[in-house]
Amino acid sequence: MLLHFVTDEPTKLPAIRAIFEPQHRVIPWLLGGRDPEVTAHGVLMVDVDLRRSARVDQTRLILKQLGRIPEKLFVVHNLVRSLVAQAYALGATAVIARAKEAVPRIAQIEKAEAAAQADIADPTTEMDAGAAAFASMFANVRGGKPVNLADAERATSLIIKRVERDGLAAWLDEVRRYHEGTFQHCLLVTGVAVGFGINVGFTGADVARLGMAATLHDIGKARIPLSILDKPGRLEPLEEEIMKRHPVIGYDLLTDLPDVGAELLDGVRHHHEYLDGSGYPDGLRASQISDPVRLLTISDIFSALIESRPYRSPMSRQAAYDILCGMEGKLEGPLLRAFRQVALAA
Ligand SMILES: [Fe+2]
Ligand SMILES: [Fe+2]
Repeated sequence: MLLHFVTDEPTKLPAIRAIFEPQHRVIPWLLGGRDPEVTAHGVLMVDVDLRRSARVDQTRLILKQLGRIPEKLFVVHNLVRSLVAQAYALGATAVIARAKEAVPRIAQIEKAEAAAQADIADPTTEMDAGAAAFASMFANVRGGKPVNLADAERATSLIIKRVERDGLAAWLDEVRRYHEGTFQHCLLVTGVAVGFGINVGFTGADVARLGMAATLHDIGKARIPLSILDKPGRLEPLEEEIMKRHPVIGYDLLTDLPDVGAELLDGVRHHHEYLDGSGYPDGLRASQISDPVRLLTISDIFSALIESRPYRSPMSRQAAYDILCGMEGKLEGPLLRAFRQVALAA
């Protein structure tokens, strides 16, 4: 694995090489020096004196170039509290007291990446083809590549076909039986959103647009560190804050691609907004939240409740629907009532 090592002290480099090479390849980024070639994969480690504002500024410039790397470890000696806060403000995803502590973390990241790659099954059925398109899209984005809209479109149209042909319940059962983890959620949300769109009378083109927004709604999570994304339990407040960056990350990943529609960007950025203004990232209020996004948000929460997680068993569809109904004020009442038929369809 590549280890991008950002430092203000060239004398630290031999020690870093001694710890990590030859297992990993260390790419030094010296503040004020010539920048090496930018790659978007690997792990980033920053060991810079953050008490000095000029160095913080230089670090920020380098981080801008390496922003696509999901895992950003900062070394803060003695874990001085103000400097730890500074590290997180610069975009750290974890702070360690000594460079050596990165060894087990990098091993863990490598293991998780290998497992994600192994998830890309040989597509033998239509269902597997949809899941495989999802899996390869996520793996590519995690590896620093741009979003492949053709993958997303392929997955979406397969799901639309299946939901139209066999109904939503069959799709939900199949996804929950065969796929776990990162992709299960997106496969479920897309099926639910498509079923919901069809149910409220969306045209074919609108269902396809909603399906694409659902497919890609959490694509920003491909750039969230796996230690947070796959954590089997509750997130700490800081981890939660990092996780909450995913709508904006997703929006940024898509916004410069050719042929990206406004509805898609809207769905990706705003699927965690609530009508009462308590959502994120923009704290939108009812009048600013479009209808497709309202559908997507309901589909997203419902899917998250009914999927299996390592730390809890899946909720029944009735129980999940009851929870949604308790969120009136945040979600649209008439839409929730329309969703009943979708949620509880046999
Ligand atoms: Fe999300
Ligand atoms: Fe989601």
